[in-house]
Amino acid sequence: MKRPRVRTTRPEDIPELIALQARVYPDIPPWSQRKLREQLDVFPQGQIVAENDDGLVGCASSLIVLWDDWSESHSWKEITGAGTFENHNPEGKTLYGAEVFVDPALRGAGVGHLLYEGRRTLCRRMNLKRIIACGRLPGYHRYADEMDAEYYAQKVVWGDLKDPVLSFQLKEDFSYCGVIENYIPEDAESCGNASVIVWINPDYDPESPTVVPEEIVL
Ligand SMILES: CC(C)(COP(=O)(O)OP(=O)(O)OC[C@H]1O[C@@H](n2cnc3c(N)ncnc32)[C@H](O)[C@@H]1OP(=O)(O)O)[C@@H](O)C(=O)NCCC(=O)NCCS
Repeated sequence: MKRPRVRTTRPEDIPELIALQARVYPDIPPWSQRKLREQLDVFPQGQIVAENDDGLVGCASSLIVLWDDWSESHSWKEITGAGTFENHNPEGKTLYGAEVFVDPALRGAGVGHLLYEGRRTLCRRMNLKRIIACGRLPGYHRYADEMDAEYYAQKVVWGDLKDPVLSFQLKEDFSYCGVIENYIPEDAESCGNASVIVWINPDYDPESPTVVPEEIVL
């Protein structure tokens, strides 16, 4: 594979990003041009893509939130403003991972790792305290008759089961914090569940403010 690299998303990426997302989630309608534009208008620094010489191969989108407003429970739709990122709040200290995906033809080749590295770079450069995300649990439907989602996720953490998303996130040094239900109700593979995960920025300086530069070169 030609070596992938990560950069911030540009408005001209939008049509290719929509086509890629439709390949990743064939059963879920992809983001509209309008929503992707809104995300770029609201927080351009937080939107990143991976590309190789053939074009876009992945994407990771984020917003900054006041985590205390959302920590008890929330759905994907609520926290992301149905994908508009209208809840983006630079007063917050938490970079919230709204979406990450990689071209199905290129999974397991390190593209997801590059995107996560990119996110950690954003978090460090902006002096944010942490990254929090609610990850899908796409392997759960296979075990839903036998155990609840919490126990399934614990078995993934213990290394007894592998989940395509949570196992990847644990390898990326994220810590598992628990399951929330009805996060994306139409996510049949995860039966609507998601695992809350966190990465603490070791370089975070509570004495310094959040810095959101005009442009972040990854
Ligand atoms: C989750 C996801 C983003 C991971 O992306 P990815 O590019 O496959 O991830 P990586 O390649 O970095 O890591 C995945 C695995 O490949 C391995 N890997 C990393 N670099 C590698 C390389 N150069 N060669 C071979 N394998 C490699 C990793 O060690 C890891 O191993 P594992 O299979 O034992 O877990 C991807 O599976 C995806 O898009 N899923 C569908 C969308 C989705 O559900 N997103 C989550 C929303 S919450």
